[in-house]
Amino acid sequence: MDSYKLLITGGIPLVGETYVSGGKNTAVAVIPAVLLSDEICVLENLPDIEDVRVLVDILGSLGAKVEYDGKARRMTIDPRPVAGYQVPYQQSQRMRASYYLLGALLGRCGQAEVGYPGGCAIGNRPFDRHIKAFRTLGAEVEEKGAVIYAKGKMVGAGVFFDAITVGGTINAMLAAAKAEGNTTIYNAAKEPHIVDLANFLNSMGASVKGAGTDTIRIRGVKHLHGSVYSVIPDQIETGTLMIAAAATRGDVVIRGCIPTHMEALTAKLLEMGVQVSEMDDAIRVRTVRTHRAVNIKTQEYPGFPTDLQQPMSAMLTRANGDSVVIETIFENRLKHLIEMQRMGARVRILDQTAIIEGVPELYGAPVTATDLRAGAALVVAGLMAKGVTEIYEPAFIARGYEHIEDKLQALGAKIHREDL
Ligand code: EPU
Repeated sequence: MDSYKLLITGGIPLVGETYVSGGKNTAVAVIPAVLLSDEICVLENLPDIEDVRVLVDILGSLGAKVEYDGKARRMTIDPRPVAGYQVPYQQSQRMRASYYLLGALLGRCGQAEVGYPGGCAIGNRPFDRHIKAFRTLGAEVEEKGAVIYAKGKMVGAGVFFDAITVGGTINAMLAAAKAEGNTTIYNAAKEPHIVDLANFLNSMGASVKGAGTDTIRIRGVKHLHGSVYSVIPDQIETGTLMIAAAATRGDVVIRGCIPTHMEALTAKLLEMGVQVSEMDDAIRVRTVRTHRAVNIKTQEYPGFPTDLQQPMSAMLTRANGDSVVIETIFENRLKHLIEMQRMGARVRILDQTAIIEGVPELYGAPVTATDLRAGAALVVAGLMAKGVTEIYEPAFIARGYEHIEDKLQALGAKIHREDL
C-alpha cells in the first residue's frame, strides 16, 4: 500500500506549454545495453523515474561504476569492473524490463542468471519468445525456481518471432550485437525504442541495420566502444499529455516530442474532432467542440499503442456516442474502466472489448490504480470529472511518468499528493 494518495479537483481545462521527458521504455533497454561496451558510456535525457533508479542499483550490484544525476537526467556508466552475471530475484522483480539483463549479460560474457521480472499486472506476460531467441543464438536456458539461467557463446543465426514481441526483439538485439557472425531477426517489433536501441548500439560501433522495419540485420562485432547518447522523448508520455489536453477541453503545446511517433493517436483525435497541429518537435492539442465517439483497436507500432489505450478509453467515456475499444495485446488492460464506473462512466466489458457509452459528466470518486497506464487513465478521468477524485496506489504512475503532478499543475490542474 502506498503511503500517499493523489487528489485531483477536476473540470479545469489544461492550458499552456509543457515538455516531454526521455522515453521510459527506451531508457530501460539502453541502460542494460551499456554492459556490452568495453568503455565508459554517458546516457543523457533519461527520465527521472523509479525504473531508472532500479537499474542504477542493479548495475551497481553487478560491479559497474555508475554516477546518476536524476536532475540533470544524465548517467555515466563504467561497465569495465563488472564481474558478476547474477541479478537476484529481489532486484529483478522490482521492474519488468530487468529481463533485458539476460540479453545484455549473455552478450557480454556468455552467461546470465536473472530473477523473474516484475512489472505491471496487465496479463500473463510470458517470455517464452525471448528464451527461444536466446536458444537460437546458442544459449542453453534453464528456468530454476525464481531465476532464469542462460549460458552459451552467442553465434549469429536467423531468429524468427512467430508473433511480434517488443521485449523479445530487444533481447535478441542485445544478445546478437557481439555474437560471432550475422543475425537476422524476422517479424521484429518496430516501436520507436527499437530504433533508438539500434542507434545507441551503432553509436558504440555495432552494426545493426533495418531497425524500424520487420527485418533487423546484425553483424556481430568483437568490441563496442564508449558513447555519449541522448535517448528519444517518451512516445507514451507525449500521448498521455495530448489526451489530457483534449479530455479537459484545453489548449496545450507539448514541446520536445517527435510528432511522427504519434500518428496513430493523432489520427484518432482528429476523428474525434480534436484539433491537433504538428510542428518539428512540438504538438498543439486543442478542443473547441464536443468529442465524437471513435473505435480503437490496439496494435503493434505503427498501430494504436496498447499503452495509450487506457488514457484514451478514459477520455472516450465522455465522448458523444458509443465507442468500442478492443485491446489485442494484453488480456487485462481494461481495469481502469471498471474503476471509472464509480465516477459515472457507462461501460460494458466482454473479455478484451469495452463498449463505452459516452456520458456528459463524470463525478469525482475514490479509485485505485492497478498498473502504470491504468493510473494515467485515472488521472485523465480525475482531470475531467466534477469534484474531487482520490487515486490510491499512485506509485504505479511515478514508475513511468516523470514529475507528472508538477507538469499538470503548471498547466493549471489542481492535483496534489496527500499522505495516508
Ligand atoms: N508475449 C508472449 N511471449 C513472449 C513475449 C510476449 O506471449 O515471450 C506476449 C505478451 O504477453 C503480450 C504480447 O506478446 O501479449 C506482446 O508483448 P511484448 O513482448 O511486445 O511486450 P513487452 O516487451 O512485455 C513492452 C513494453 C510495454 C508495452 C508493450 C507493447 C517495455 C519495458 N514494456 O512490453 O510497456 O505495453 O511492449 O508495446 O518496453 C508500459 O510502458 O506500460 C508497458 C507495459
